[in-house]
Amino acid sequence: MVANKVVFITGAASGIGYEIGVEFAKQGAKIAFSDVNENVHEVVKDLNEKGYDCISFTCDVTKEDDIQQSIQATFNHYGRMDVLIGVASGKCGFTTLSIFQGR
Ligand SMILES: NC(=O)c1ccc[n+]([C@@H]2O[C@H](COP(=O)([O-])OP(=O)(O)OC[C@H]3O[C@@H](n4cnc5c(N)ncnc54)[C@H](O)[C@@H]3O)[C@@H](O)[C@H]2O)c1
Repeated sequence: MVANKVVFITGAASGIGYEIGVEFAKQGAKIAFSDVNENVHEVVKDLNEKGYDCISFTCDVTKEDDIQQSIQATFNHYGRMDVLIGVASGKCGFTTLSIFQGR
């Protein structure tokens, strides 16, 4: 069902976002993992070595520029975006969806 879909996930370096990303990758989706924590790059390096098609971005969802850049880079890399999963939340602001809706 998600095979070959391009999925963008915020807050994806750990926890729920990470687990969703890994599960979708196992099902053949292409995943853009984004997180404010730079560890997201190590996480994706490990997944790439396991054969999953993933890219990573350092992105703070409270910063519009970060969101714009990572969404644009995802379009540049995969040519489209099919699914947006916003996990980064808690005490931080959340603006990803309104920016994404501009696409
Ligand atoms: N784990 C649960 O059982 C549970 C239950 C209900 C609700 N939640 C909520 O779901 C959300 C995720 O939970 P989790 O357990 O995966 O947490 P987590 O702390 O394991 O993961 C959250 C991720 O979001 C990232 N993050 C934090 N601020 C960010 C920002 N400004 N921009 C981008 N990334 C940012 C963190 O670096 C981290 O990798 C939280 O808001 C939590 O309150 C979790």
